Amino acid sequence: MSMNYREAGAGDPVIFIHGFPFNHTMWQPQLANAADGWRFIAPDLRGFGETPDDSSAPLTMETFADDIVALMDDLGLEQAVLVGLSMGGYVALDVVTRYADRVRALVLTATRANADSAEAKANRHSLAARARSSGARAVIDTMLPHLISAHSRLKMPELIKTVQGMMESASPQTMARALEGMALRKDYVADLANVNVSTMIIRGDQDDIIPAAEMETIARSVRGARHEVISLAGHLPNLENPELFNKLLGSFLAYLPPALKLGDFSLSF
Ligand code: MLT
Repeated sequence: MSMNYREAGAGDPVIFIHGFPFNHTMWQPQLANAADGWRFIAPDLRGFGETPDDSSAPLTMETFADDIVALMDDLGLEQAVLVGLSMGGYVALDVVTRYADRVRALVLTATRANADSAEAKANRHSLAARARSSGARAVIDTMLPHLISAHSRLKMPELIKTVQGMMESASPQTMARALEGMALRKDYVADLANVNVSTMIIRGDQDDIIPAAEMETIARSVRGARHEVISLAGHLPNLENPELFNKLLGSFLAYLPPALKLGDFSLSF
C-alpha cells in the first residue's frame, strides 16, 4: 500500500496524525512552521486525502496504527514523536500501546482514551448508514457546527470553509468505515499508566466534541504529562490558534530528552 504524506523541515521526525474526516492538510499551519531541527511529516490515513484504499472492512485504529508504523519503516525511522488530533489521537494511543519503542514522545490533542459508550457506538453506526445512503453531507452537517468555537468562527470566518472543503473531499464510504472502526475501538485508559515517554495534552476549552474530563483523564493517568489548555479554541486548536499551538509544540520539542539511537548502549568489559 502507498501512503501519501507531506513533509517540511529537517531533523528528528515528528508525525502528525489527522482527525476524522480530515486529511494531512489540517496540519498546514504546522508544516508551514516546522520547528528548527525537526522533520514534520503529515500523512493521509488510509482512504483519506490522497492515500488510496479499496477494501470494505471497518477502518480500525489498529489498521491506521499499523500503517503509521509501516510508513516509519519505509522512511527508515526508528522512532518518531507522534502528534495526534482526535481520531489521530486514538491512532497515536494504539501505536504507543503496541509499538512503544517506536514512539519518542506524544502530543495528544482534542482526543480521548476511553472507548465509546453503547450510545456513542449506536450514533456512529447510524451516521455511517446515513453517509452510505445520503453521502458526505450527512457527516458534514452533523459535525461541522461542533468543530470550531464561536470565537474562532467570528475571528476566522474562512476557517469553516477550509474545514468544510476538507470534509467534502472525503469519500462517504471511507467516512462510514472509519466511523465503524472508531466504534470498535478499544479502551486505552488502562494503557495510559504504561506510557513512559514525554507526553503533552493540548485541549481547547471550548471543545464541543471531547469533554474536558476525558482529556483530564489522560493528563492524570500518563506519568508527568504536561497539560495545556488553549482558551477560546474548540475541537481544532491547531487551526483555531496555530500561533499558540506551534509555540506549545515548539517548547515541548525543545525540551525533549535526546533521542536514543541504536548503538548508544555499548557494553565495555
Ligand atoms: C475527530 O475529530 O477525529 C472525531 O471527532 C473523532 C470522533 O468522532 O471521536
